[in-house]
Amino acid sequence: MRSVIDIPDLSPAEIDELIDTAQDIIDHPAAYADRCRGKKLATLFFEPSTRTRLSFEAAMYELGGAVLSVTDAASSSASKGESVADTAKVISCYADIIAMRHPKEGAALVAANNATVPVINAGDGGHCHPTQTLADLFTIFREKGGFSGLTVGLCGDLKFGRTVHSLINALSRYDGMNFVLISPEELKLPSYVKEESLKARGLPYRQTTSLEDAMPSLDVLYMTRVQRERFFNEEDYLRLKDSYILTPQKLAAAKSDLCIMHPLPRVNEISVAVDRDPRACYFKQVLYGKYMRMALILKLLAEAAI
Ligand code: NCD
Repeated sequence: MRSVIDIPDLSPAEIDELIDTAQDIIDHPAAYADRCRGKKLATLFFEPSTRTRLSFEAAMYELGGAVLSVTDAASSSASKGESVADTAKVISCYADIIAMRHPKEGAALVAANNATVPVINAGDGGHCHPTQTLADLFTIFREKGGFSGLTVGLCGDLKFGRTVHSLINALSRYDGMNFVLISPEELKLPSYVKEESLKARGLPYRQTTSLEDAMPSLDVLYMTRVQRERFFNEEDYLRLKDSYILTPQKLAAAKSDLCIMHPLPRVNEISVAVDRDPRACYFKQVLYGKYMRMALILKLLAEAAI
């Protein structure tokens, strides 16, 4: 059974296909309104989420399907001690496809290994978040027309930010990419991401603590929230949380066609004054995420039916 747990589960050609489908959904929404009639998506979210869960659910409704939803671990059998493996087996009896978020790294893989329907990882701890990356890729595609030869700055919590790990993994597969990793010393990109993505593909990257220094060179700036829930102590979080705040003043040094992104939720990393800047793409990114999730649900259900 085909599941999507991490970005390498999808080839670049399949990502192109998903982008084509998402584009076609935008152009011809009525043609998709009944494509999942009679099918059910289960959303199992054992960690807080607003947009990812609602994005999956809106995606399924727009395809004419139905949704079963578990929104917190406390109200599910997980609180009685049920394993992820058992939960996956049980939900497979009710739903045709599962989207799951869990605070433990690897939980979605365990679910996929035990489910009899496709499982989509909607975020596993500080590990990865492939469908956010699909949203991010579609945004970059729409704004920049493609992925080659871009200088992409990733700024903030690169250590715990799972969206960053998946995005670097995905973008590393395109030619001529250049990465600028902007973070405090304590929140640098984990070495496994550097080894598996950047070094394995010989891609140029530079690490800096200064957003100001990086700004003029960037085509894309991906801001992230400091991931409070992954810190062992609150003092470190409080010290690091406002390391980077993007303001109109800082953007004065940026390219005129910079694409500013953020997976959201935003805490303090982008001042609201930036929202009026035409380069701000983070709310469009939310919308694009829904279309890419529609495309992914369609693909996995079609493959499961073969
Ligand atoms: C991200 C996540 O859950 O990792 N949110 C999301 O899915 N859009 C980013 C975050 O929580 O900071």
